[in-house]
Parts: sequence; structure tokens; C-alpha cells
Amino acid sequence: MDRIEGVLKEERVFYPSEAFRKQAHIGSEEEYERLYRESLEDPEGFWGRVASELHWFTPWQKVLEGDLPHPKWFVGGKTNLAFNALDRHVQTWRRNKAALIWEGEPGEERVLTYHDLWREVQRFANVLKRLGVKKGDRVTIYLPMVPEAAIAMLACTRIGAVHSVVFGGFSAGALADRIKDAEAKVLITADGGYRRGGIVPLKQNADEALKDATSVEHVVVVRRTGEEVPWTPGRDHWWHELMEAASDRCEAEPMEAEEPLFILYTSGSTGKPKGVLHTLGGYMTYVYLTTKLVFDLKDEDVYWCTADVGWITGHSYVVYGPLLNGATTVMYEGAPNWPEPDRFWRIVDKYGVSILYTAPTAIRAFMKWGEGWPLKHRLDTLRLLGTVGEPINPEAWLWYYNVIGKGRCPIVDTWWQTETGGIMITTLPGAHAMKPGHAGKPFFGVKPEILDSEHRPVENPDEGGHLCITRPWPSMLRTVWGDPERFLKQYFSQHPGVYFTGDGARRDKDGYYLILGRVDDVLNVAGHRLGTMEIESALVSHPAVAEAAVVGRPDPLKGEAIVAFVTLKEGYQPSDALREELKAHVAKVIGPIARPDEVRFTDALPKTRSGKIMRRLLRQIAAGEKEIKGDTSTLEDRSVVERLKEGA
Ligand code: WT7
Repeated sequence: MDRIEGVLKEERVFYPSEAFRKQAHIGSEEEYERLYRESLEDPEGFWGRVASELHWFTPWQKVLEGDLPHPKWFVGGKTNLAFNALDRHVQTWRRNKAALIWEGEPGEERVLTYHDLWREVQRFANVLKRLGVKKGDRVTIYLPMVPEAAIAMLACTRIGAVHSVVFGGFSAGALADRIKDAEAKVLITADGGYRRGGIVPLKQNADEALKDATSVEHVVVVRRTGEEVPWTPGRDHWWHELMEAASDRCEAEPMEAEEPLFILYTSGSTGKPKGVLHTLGGYMTYVYLTTKLVFDLKDEDVYWCTADVGWITGHSYVVYGPLLNGATTVMYEGAPNWPEPDRFWRIVDKYGVSILYTAPTAIRAFMKWGEGWPLKHRLDTLRLLGTVGEPINPEAWLWYYNVIGKGRCPIVDTWWQTETGGIMITTLPGAHAMKPGHAGKPFFGVKPEILDSEHRPVENPDEGGHLCITRPWPSMLRTVWGDPERFLKQYFSQHPGVYFTGDGARRDKDGYYLILGRVDDVLNVAGHRLGTMEIESALVSHPAVAEAAVVGRPDPLKGEAIVAFVTLKEGYQPSDALREELKAHVAKVIGPIARPDEVRFTDALPKTRSGKIMRRLLRQIAAGEKEIKGDTSTLEDRSVVERLKEGA
């Protein structure tokens, strides 16, 4: 827990305005405290009440059964996510309300009402059925940020198929691994997607992945760019052709609350990404409520979460949470600085966005580009701002608050993870004071605890420890797909009986949590999670590399930058060309997000006598520290450290 320095001290506390409080769903700290207490004392009463705001084909018999690590929620209940996100609203005045406002990077615009989206989803559900997809089958989605991504996800949940969305920035190899692990039957992709004026060749990547991933019987291709793409007749189908032939009526399948909903792969501390499995009833209920209360969502809002649907934020807070609430959700395909650094602010003004949810790394980039860009726009429809993905440094918080929010909009700094399914720690915008750099308080039903290495709760304010969750919450992951042992080992073995998040944190005297960042071998690069081992195995797959060790270095823009220490095989010499080649190699193996910022050649890595690489030392060297702190007595060869420092 010694690597969180970038966080400036900021002691000021900010309060939501009286006007905001008055109109908020939860408008006072007392109300939060009362509901929080109830949610822990009577979780069944609390969550049962929330779930009954949604539609169930068959009511549950028991709200919560069992405990960590294997709780069951809404046992015996049958429901459907697409039904709750669409049919429920189509039966009301929301029928013709905008559900999805989409903008492509080149500038096209599409608005789908709830009725439109409902029909499209049913059509695509019929398409999937025609391709032989049955309840429980896996469908991999590898798409750019286009409406079809949301339609495909919702169509899967409508028929009970399990989707696995793979971020469009991942390589063919990463896609193949994920298809194989899930044994997906159908792959949905596009001819390409736009990014910073260029085209991402998704179909080519998909074809390359399918050479290796043989479970896929059919590929559905969305026509996005119009580029010429390779085609395998019989296997490949155009989305629009299949849709033309499909009926727009397809009943939602009543599904058991604990049936699988989706798999989402995320990086862990081993080389292989984990398939985090979420199930229907608990996820749906939790995401519905967090979206409503954390974003203080109202029918009048235009809500924009800038995440890609390839990440959990895109699942829970671009698609499912807003639609479950009958809200208008904005989706943008491209880069924030295309064609110019004010694209986001143009979108805010153009659609009258009232709630904006984005990442600290984006905010820091906007700061760097200068406040002239946002100042060119009115931004007067905004009423609430949010951040997610990594700790936000107080400077970026203040900039967001003043330059974007004009000191008028509360900020919610939401801490959560792929595994938690929904937001776990945050302030509620009408109830809580804000402390820049502190995420805030636990959401309803969430019982965090900070534990020391002896599993004892840390009681002193501001003392660091491991952030754990000690009670079951509805949207927690249920297992790691195909690897129940890894699920237990990864999350429930470090501190027996409780869920270990992998993050360090501390709690202040007011009960506000401050997240210190990962304590395991997981990097957070521009809000994206990457395993050091994953990048290391990509490096050693290059013929020149003997050994590699990857660490994070604090980076003013990306939070963490990737630094790779590399030893070369006999016959290879360090050179700038090789350095660039290795960076490109990693980008090709995993995807551009994993490209190392720095490759350092060395003749040896610092290891313990038992052969374990001492990443702790490498982190300090990467950060340019002159004096190496901490115990180095277990080092096998102390001179390695000196040579590494000199090599900088
Ligand atoms: C890790 C989870 C959940 C959405 C996006 C990331 C870090 C996330 C915050 C925050 C400090 C944060 C943690 C966490 N993180 N939000 N508000 N403050 N750190 O999901 O890829 O599963 O990564 O992101 O380290 O463990 P993810």
C-alpha cells in the first residue's frame, strides 16, 4: 500500500446545493443512514421491496439463501432482463420516449425509442433462434459502440442466451481465448468500427480468431463502415439481411433468478483472463437501484455514460441500468478528441445531457487539452457528474467540478469492479458531502471492511488495509466461468470467509472510504485493468525475449503507465528498433491498450533466492526513485538493482 502517492491532500469538503437536495431521490444523510441500516438489518425486506418494482413472471420464495461465497438471491423467482428493460416501458407513456441516442464518430445520429428498441431486440432474438441459439448457449459480441451492441445484448437476455462481450480494442488472439473459454456458438461482429478517424478491422480480427476458436458456427456481421471484408459463405451472415427476414415478435423467456446472465472477461493476477459470471435476478435488481439512486435518475434526464460496452461499466451503466429505469441513454462511438478535443462538450450541448459519467483518465486528458475547449460550450444542461475506474486525484476532481460542472453539479466518485456488477462505494448526490479523492460511503446492502494482514478489522481512522466485503450483495459474481476453484482461491482465500477486492483502502473518521489502488499484480492503465502476467507472457512469446517483468509507474494522464523489464536471449542485442518491435508485439497479442509505454533492457531481473521476481523493487526503479526502500535482504544478487538503476 505504498504506491498511491499521486494523491494530493485536499481537505475541503463540498456540499450539494439546497436545490439539488430538495429534488433528489435521497435528499439527506439521515435518510441514507436509515435505509442503510435497514438494508443490513433486514436485507430480505429491503431487496424484496426493490425487486418488486420490477416485473417477475413467478415471484421468488426466498430473497436470500445461504451466505458468502455462494449466496442465492430471489430463489424460485422467474423474470427476464429484456422484458424489464423494454416491455415494461412499452406498456406505458414511455413507449415513444427516446431509449437510446447514438452518435457515430463521423457524426451520424440515430435515436431509438423504447418501442423501436423493443422491436429491434425481438427481431434479433428471432435471428439468434434461427441460428440455433438456445437458452444457456454462449454468444460472443465483438462490436464497436453501435446500437447493435445493445440490441444484441438485450436479444441474448431475452431468450436466455449468455452473452460475452469482448472489447473491440482487443486483438484476434485475445478474442480467440475468450471465445474458446466460453465455447461460444455465435459471434457477432462488424465490418469495422471508427476510432480517431481510422477504421478498426474487426471482421479481419474475428476471422483470424476463428481459425483457432472452432466452437463458433455462425458469424453475424453488422455493416458499419462499408469496407470490403473477407467472407466465409454459410458461416457469415449480414446482420441487416437476417433482420429483414425476422419477425418483430418474440416473447421474453421467463428465466430463473440464478440462471447465468452474462460472462465478462477481466484480468487477474495470473496470465489467463477470468470469465466473471453474473446471474439474472440479483444483478438486475442491484443495477436498477444503483442507477436510480447514485445518478439520481429522473424521467427528464438525458444520461450519458462514456464507457464502452466491452467493459462492465458499459453493461451496467450504458445499457442495463438506464433502460431498466426507463431513461434516455446516450451512446457515442468514437474518441473524445475527434475531430477536435471538444467532442464530448459538443455532444453534451447537442443532446442536452444532464448526467455525465466518465473516467478520471479522460478528465485529466481534457485538463491537458485546456479549458478553452469546454468553455466554448454552454454545458448548462448538466446537473450531475460521475467518475469511475480509478482513484481521481483532487486536482482533476476540482477541474471537473469547476470547469465542467461550474460548481453547480455534485460529483459521484463510484468505486466498484467487474466482479461486483454494480457500484459499491460512492456518495449519494443529494445526501452526502463530497470529499475530493474519497469515493464515499457504502451503497445500501454493502458491508465493507478494511482488514490487516492478520484478517483483523483496521479500526483506526485513515489506516490502510485490504478492502473486503463481508456480506453477500445481489450483483456479486457467482463464479469464474469453468473454474470454480479459481473463484474461491482468487476472492475468498486471502481473508477467509469474506470477499477480497484486490484493492487497498482506508476509512476516515466520518466513514468515507479512500481507495488506494490495487495491491495485487493488476495494473490500472487509463481505467483499464491489465494483468502484469498477461503482458509478460505476451512479451516472452517474442523470439528475442528470455524473461520479462512488468510493473506500473505512476502516470499523470493514465494513472499508471506500463513499464516492461526485459532480458534477451543469446544472439539478440538491445536496440531502439527491437524496443519498438516488442511494444508492437504486445499490442498485437493483447490489444493496443496493453502496449508498454517503456521497454527497458537488462541483463538480469531482481529475484529472491527462491526465484520470485521482486516487482516491488522494479516499481521503485521504474518510478525513478533514487533510494530503494524496503527489505532487499532476500535478493539473490544485490548488484542487479544498482545496474538496473544505472540503466535508467
Ligand atoms: C478496479 C476494478 C468498475 C468499473 C470500471 C473498472 C479500480 C474502479 C474506482 C474508483 C478508485 C477505482 C479499483 C478496482 N476502481 N473504480 N472510483 N476509485 N479505484 O472495473 O476493470 O473491474 O476494475 O478499478 O482498483 O478494483 P474493473
